[in-house]
Amino acid sequence: MKKWWHSAVGYQIYPKSFQDSNGDGIGDIKGIISRLPYLKELGISVIWLSPINQSPMKDHGYDISDYYHIDPSFGSDEDFENLITEAKKYDIRILLDLVINHTSVKHEWFQKALADLDSPYADYYMIREGNGNLPPNNWRSMFGGSAWERIEGTNKYYLHLFTVDQPDLNWENPKLRKELYHIIQFWLNKGVAGFRIDAIAHIKKVFDAAMKEADGPDGLAEDFEHYRNAKGIEQFLAEMRDQAFAGQDILTIAEMDVPNPNDWVEFFGDNGYFSSIFDFYHTIYNVQSEEFKDRPVELVEKLKERAFEKQTLAHNKVFFTNFIENHDLPRSPERLIPKEEIHFYSKSLLAVHYFFLRGIPVVYQGQEIGMQDYPKNSISEYIDLATHNKYQEYLLRGKSPEEALSQINIENRENSRTPFQWSTDQNAGFTEGEPWFEVNPNYVDINYEKQEQDADSLLNFYKRLIKVRRNIEYEDVFVYGRTLQLFKEVKGCFAYKRQLGDKEVTVICNFTNQSLTIDYEYDAATQILMNNYKNIQYTQGLLSLNPYQAIVIG
Ligand code: NOJ
Repeated sequence: MKKWWHSAVGYQIYPKSFQDSNGDGIGDIKGIISRLPYLKELGISVIWLSPINQSPMKDHGYDISDYYHIDPSFGSDEDFENLITEAKKYDIRILLDLVINHTSVKHEWFQKALADLDSPYADYYMIREGNGNLPPNNWRSMFGGSAWERIEGTNKYYLHLFTVDQPDLNWENPKLRKELYHIIQFWLNKGVAGFRIDAIAHIKKVFDAAMKEADGPDGLAEDFEHYRNAKGIEQFLAEMRDQAFAGQDILTIAEMDVPNPNDWVEFFGDNGYFSSIFDFYHTIYNVQSEEFKDRPVELVEKLKERAFEKQTLAHNKVFFTNFIENHDLPRSPERLIPKEEIHFYSKSLLAVHYFFLRGIPVVYQGQEIGMQDYPKNSISEYIDLATHNKYQEYLLRGKSPEEALSQINIENRENSRTPFQWSTDQNAGFTEGEPWFEVNPNYVDINYEKQEQDADSLLNFYKRLIKVRRNIEYEDVFVYGRTLQLFKEVKGCFAYKRQLGDKEVTVICNFTNQSLTIDYEYDAATQILMNNYKNIQYTQGLLSLNPYQAIVIG
């Protein structure tokens, strides 16, 4: 059955860094409202907002202290209602970020639990007796350090798979689960169109008191088997689907790595637990990493392998959410393109290569103007706790401070959290105050205002791209057509055909810095729907692509 979200084009907003309206240096809801005309013009139909609930902001909102209210730094509850109403006028729907694997330590439930470990609230969290003088086991938090924190004055510990400020909820407790479903319904009643669901792969924990063999000098160990898609998670997911989501015309996108592709249909198929998935099967590659240094084409080959494996599996069964950037990843040009070749052509090629795959394309704020990483000169310039912990871990593993910093600069997630670059005004037009996080100084070159006025800019390329993706004449083939990989054997060539009935669209991207000639019967009767160069070179069955040329032929 066709659903509204099958043909959606999404846009992720990281509210802290999008647009400030009141000069406090922090992006806010009124700022987002003021930019709705821009988003309409860009052509997107759904916004995913990173968390805006009340939070001490130890993980920039992914540590919620009150699920029912908006954090004052983002505005009021009423501002949010206005956002829904205003967005509707532009045919834009809003997805919230649902962070229900953990809360903030400041959440009332956790505070009550701490005040009385015999209260029912203690059973809302994963609290366990210490192992002698040691934590209950040696699990490492995904953000570094032990995953257990001792509760003062006791020999009990609470589990935090993320930062120490984010205690994990105990999903085994049916009362807790009911509370969470209530929160979901509360926001649906306010008119949100669905959710991006945070860290949901981790809700099931199979506690194991046995010490694991240490996998690092910190004596700790990763133990994903027991807390990522752990045995039994399906029961929780099925219950949430049936009690919180069923019967509502909403879009639910799980942030989830499902290690076994054979499970994708069960999780995300027509009767799956969620509508769609943000998975990281294709985002783990970085052209600056040891593995791919000086071997960018090998990286493209990996991308191809993973992308088309997913596409084959997805056909008629799963709608993936397709993305190249988010707030947890460095910017895509740095990850995927050699430094000296980052320019309009390579950035526009990145846009084309994933936009026409089966699934929901999502653009992360700033991607459409080609924002880039902002490496730091000192670790102290980073705010993110996970980044600091990772730095310490590198030192412990024997890297020098310089080596550790240079690794952090490549891989850290704050690269994508610098404020949006709107103009050449002070602070890139993001705020009239002191920005909470430093603006990338390249804003004088890379900014919205400049690109808006240039018909050949990346921004205007994205606008055309989204228009083509949503063009009613082609929409069905892009949304429901099958994906057939083309030129699989040609190194650096990322190409595919989408096909439905007698309608076909072909996408060809040359991911190399050389021209690339392929055998291709080019039918002059077809249309060039997108081309990041001005021309196409074709002679007698041979198509020659310029370095980083990307074309879409319909
Ligand atoms: C995934 C989010 O995207 C990330 O930003 C956050 O730190 C963790 N989940 C914990 O909520």
